[in-house]
Amino acid sequence: MEVVIRADPDEVGRTAADVLEPAVRAGSVIGLATGASPGPLYDDLRRRHGEEDLGFAGCRGFLLDEYVGLAADHPQSYAAVIRRELADAVGLAVEGPDGRARDLVAACERYEAAIDAAGGIDVQVLGIGTDGHLGFNEPSSSLASRTRPKTLTPQTRADNARYFASRDDVPVHVLTQGLGTILQARHLLLLATGPKKAPAVAAALEGPVTTSCPASVLQLHPHVTVLLDEPAAAELQRAEYHRFTAAHKPSWQGW
Ligand code: GLP
Repeated sequence: MEVVIRADPDEVGRTAADVLEPAVRAGSVIGLATGASPGPLYDDLRRRHGEEDLGFAGCRGFLLDEYVGLAADHPQSYAAVIRRELADAVGLAVEGPDGRARDLVAACERYEAAIDAAGGIDVQVLGIGTDGHLGFNEPSSSLASRTRPKTLTPQTRADNARYFASRDDVPVHVLTQGLGTILQARHLLLLATGPKKAPAVAAALEGPVTTSCPASVLQLHPHVTVLLDEPAAAELQRAEYHRFTAAHKPSWQGW
């Protein structure tokens, strides 16, 4: 696991774009998270598309998760968010699990099959919840779970209420790639910024691997890049080591 600490969210976004750019140019399958954390990354990818000829031809996108029951054109459906924040601007085709399907379990199975048929996800962008969730895999999620419906915790609904008119408008149910699904992506790129993420980041990176902190499952993956800003890294015991490692990153080493 490579942990890189940057000064602020914009620097995290720029570094994340550096990590993703070779994959984009290679026409990769990219897993996309929503939420505030990847915002600066998507800003920079749109800029590189416009100013630096970064083409997404040949790439495909797959969403990490989706709310259940929101209309397809609801501004907070994750399909709509990713269209607005990235896909429409760069011409990227993105699929997501169908949160409006009559049979949600079957929709999740179809989604797993679609990811497989695309050859699997090359790089998966991830955020982390304040309760340690990854995607919408809340604490107690099986570390081997596949894409499936889940029920949000009150904490996650409160965290996400800022995107809705009220907390009651935040859907109770969601569809999410499972932790086992996420672990199958070839490269995981976790972005976390701000002081509210510091306890979850420390638990995920330095605590035990446990369903109580779903993001701790990252410790089991052979290729993980974690990009943090200073406030999100504030509770890490090994922050100095990560700074030392970054300062001595060999020129031959990619991401
Ligand atoms: C949300 C999303 C996750 C996201 C996480 C952090 O609920 N389902 O995919 O990574 O929680 O969100 P944010 O980046 O807005 O803090």
